Amino acid sequence: MLPRLDGYAVAQRIREDEGTTAHVPIVMLTAEGDVEQRIRGLRMGADDYLMKPFHPAELIARIRSLLARFSPTLDAGAAAPTGSVLVFYGAKGGVGTTTLAINAAIALHKETGRNVALVDGNLQFGDHRVFLDLGLDRKSVVDIVSAPTVDAELVRQVMVRHDSGIDVLLAPPSPETAELVTPDHFPAILDILRSTYDFVVVDVDERLDELNLRIFDAAQAIHVVLTADLASLKNVRIVLETLANLAYERSRIKLVLNRSTAFTGISVKNAEGALRHRIDTQIVNDYRGAISGLNSGQPVLESRPDSALGRAIVEMARAIDADRQREIAG
Ligand SMILES: Nc1ncnc2c1ncn2[C@@H]1O[C@H](COP(=O)(O)OP(=O)(O)OP(=O)(O)O)[C@@H](O)[C@H]1O
Ligand SMILES: [Mg+2]
Repeated sequence: MLPRLDGYAVAQRIREDEGTTAHVPIVMLTAEGDVEQRIRGLRMGADDYLMKPFHPAELIARIRSLLARFSPTLDAGAAAPTGSVLVFYGAKGGVGTTTLAINAAIALHKETGRNVALVDGNLQFGDHRVFLDLGLDRKSVVDIVSAPTVDAELVRQVMVRHDSGIDVLLAPPSPETAELVTPDHFPAILDILRSTYDFVVVDVDERLDELNLRIFDAAQAIHVVLTADLASLKNVRIVLETLANLAYERSRIKLVLNRSTAFTGISVKNAEGALRHRIDTQIVNDYRGAISGLNSGQPVLESRPDSALGRAIVEMARAIDADRQREIAG
């Protein structure tokens, strides 16, 4: 119970204040089970009703579904989104997430001929400009979020074409401007990209914050990148638990073991046992392949596609594309 207002009055007040264009989704949580109270809540403007005690996963599922129902449609003219959003998420820094995201995007384009967008989701310290040799003068996500309206044409203008044939949405050129991007922006931008590209590959850093979770929500697959060491396994375990508590379907989560052939004393079997999750993809340890790309400002798929690392990433891209084809076929 609130001190002066009850939940019904709060709902009514929100509805009165929001005007005709906005709609704040409201879920009423209550101990009262009878139909009259329920109807009263709905009449006062609640969109959904949940009786205590409830499972947190149910609350989250209902909030998600309301957010999806009432999130603003930004571009009425855009085609229906049919592309796949693939997140590459490093549960710990330095495990190779950016290397895999960038090169998987290029491999998907080169090997399967798909249209591919690559998004740098590491807003404060995005590395894509360096990895792809794109200067600070190139447009970034800030040019989208600072415009009065976001539509497909604006997004198209901000995407930067890389020599490999993929289009890149760069992170802001400086950390201060990263704050302009809010959790509400990404779902809308990803939706627009999905209606233009077959694949939208997003490089996401380790923070499990609102912004990253909204990106996860929009993703068809979340590739969690890890290495076989204790610190990385510990983080992945926490991430898997958190995503399970937030009711993310396990089938959307793929584990990618990077540098799988490096000697760490922890085998693939041990890692799978510790995580109670199968490793879906293994990428070999190939320091020369990885570094040759970095030093030349050219991704390994461009500079040394025949290296062990290049071949492993091409194989992963083919499997990703085959999965998507299976999903489309139903
Ligand atoms: N399979 C691999 N074999 C050998 N070295 C690799 C491999 N993958 C990545 N690396 C190297 O690991 C380092 C970190 O890679 P990268 O920047 O892609 O990781 P990250 O997880 O995105 O890091 P950050 O937390 O800084 O964003 C780089 O020097 C890269 O060349
Ligand atoms: Mg990175």
